[in-house]
Amino acid sequence: MRNLTFPHELVSLLKRTSKLAALTGAGVSQESGLRTFRDAQDGLWKQYKPEDLASPEAFARDPKLIWDWYAWRREAVKGVRPNPGHYALVEIEKRIPEFILITQNVDGLHRMAGNKNVLELHGNIQRVRCSDCDTFAETWDEGNEEVPKCEECGGLLRPDVVWFGETLPRNQLEASVEAARICDVFFSIGTSGVVQPASSLAHAAHNQGAVVVEINAEQTTLTPKTDYFFQGKSGEILPELVKAVWDH
Ligand code: OAD
Repeated sequence: MRNLTFPHELVSLLKRTSKLAALTGAGVSQESGLRTFRDAQDGLWKQYKPEDLASPEAFARDPKLIWDWYAWRREAVKGVRPNPGHYALVEIEKRIPEFILITQNVDGLHRMAGNKNVLELHGNIQRVRCSDCDTFAETWDEGNEEVPKCEECGGLLRPDVVWFGETLPRNQLEASVEAARICDVFFSIGTSGVVQPASSLAHAAHNQGAVVVEINAEQTTLTPKTDYFFQGKSGEILPELVKAVWDH
């Protein structure tokens, strides 16, 4: 691993900052062995476009196909563990009085690592709800010929994730916008920032005067607007940053 040094002004800002918002994307889970949404399609699923597997229209057209795709992804997530980048974010939460973690990931790894104040903007692949009445299902019968049905109303069950063309959960979105509006420091980590409205959060934070820090394997469209950009793996850079700021 590289020996990282961080600018003194950033270290001293993080030591005294009280409001920090962090936005994460698929890159944060990459070192846990999870491939990004588009890369996740393997073997049998390769023939489909993401929109053909993750939209309300696709579910209406062929609910069993979509159910099976998510059952397959749920299996892929099972046994996957958080990586040092996730754990570094837990350490940051312990040290910053008002810390909020906004994630586009549906894998639940931030909570598994131990973060408490997490907004899951795109839902969670482990949760299942009724496509008609929205009641959450705790258990369901997998491996059936049919898509499992809601015990309350008989509607078809679906994953509690945001599909293409669907709106984001209102409370989570409002809380995210508010966090970007009031934070002193905004982290954008492992996200390409191409999907709205999550990507506009970093710009909102920048426009209200927050210091924007980006950690990514590559430059993104946000990079020119950042105050600090660290290129590399979040699982390496975040633990080093925690060490530099708080372990001295
Ligand atoms: P993307 O797949 O668009 O971007 C992943 C980003 O992570 C890229 O910018 C990579 O350079 C970066 N990256 C990869 N490995 C990394 C590592 N080890 N450390 C740091 N950065 C790394 O994923 P998202 O930005 O999360 O939406 O995509 C956002 C949304 O687009 C997803 O939530 C999904 C998709 O359509 C829905 O499903 C609604």
